[in-house]
Amino acid sequence: MAQKTDKLLPILEGQPVIPVLKIDRLADAVPLARALAEGGLPAIEITLRTPDAVDAIRLVAEEVPEALVGAGTILSTRNFEHAVDAGAHFIVSPGTTQELLDCARMSDIPFLPGGITPSEIMSLREEGYSVLKFFPAEQAGGTAFLKSLASPLAGIRFCPTGGISLANAHEYLSLPNVVCVGGSWVAPDELLKAKDWSGIAALARQAARLPRK
Ligand code: 3PG
Repeated sequence: MAQKTDKLLPILEGQPVIPVLKIDRLADAVPLARALAEGGLPAIEITLRTPDAVDAIRLVAEEVPEALVGAGTILSTRNFEHAVDAGAHFIVSPGTTQELLDCARMSDIPFLPGGITPSEIMSLREEGYSVLKFFPAEQAGGTAFLKSLASPLAGIRFCPTGGISLANAHEYLSLPNVVCVGGSWVAPDELLKAKDWSGIAALARQAARLPRK
């Protein structure tokens, strides 16, 4: 099984929202992961968009047993390997390259690649992928676009991210071809700067309660 959906789906089906995190200060990683898990969002995606991201993944994997840390913004096999070495439980990419697919095939860690257009999705389907990231969701056509994919590309489910917030998440989560959504709104910069972990736990609690299909 190319995608290891037996490992990936329980993570994505376990909560309606996967927090997409950009860690600017390494010291924030552990308290942030703890706050999100306490609020009901144990699975998190730490994006490789900051210099300390891989160390943040390692710290969370080692020190927060209640969290399930994944790695996002994986653009190269080097990123993939570093994230897996650090202890990432799943790997997320905004798109797909053949190199990443080859790397994922050799790995035990599940991979959530990005695909938007029917042709991209069909290519991933041929590679054995049935769960895809849909990024940037709002900018690419949002729920109307996803609804149009449901019938011709039946059997493919998505984790949309990009421009999703508490205000529109329920529209995505009501679609049968959406497994969960991803978003950064549960860990806003101002709360991170203020180290307001209880505020972040409260946002997580609100997100964790969102109903889905
Ligand atoms: C991602 O990588 O999934 C997105 O950058 C998250 O988008 P958001 O910040 O609009 O939630």
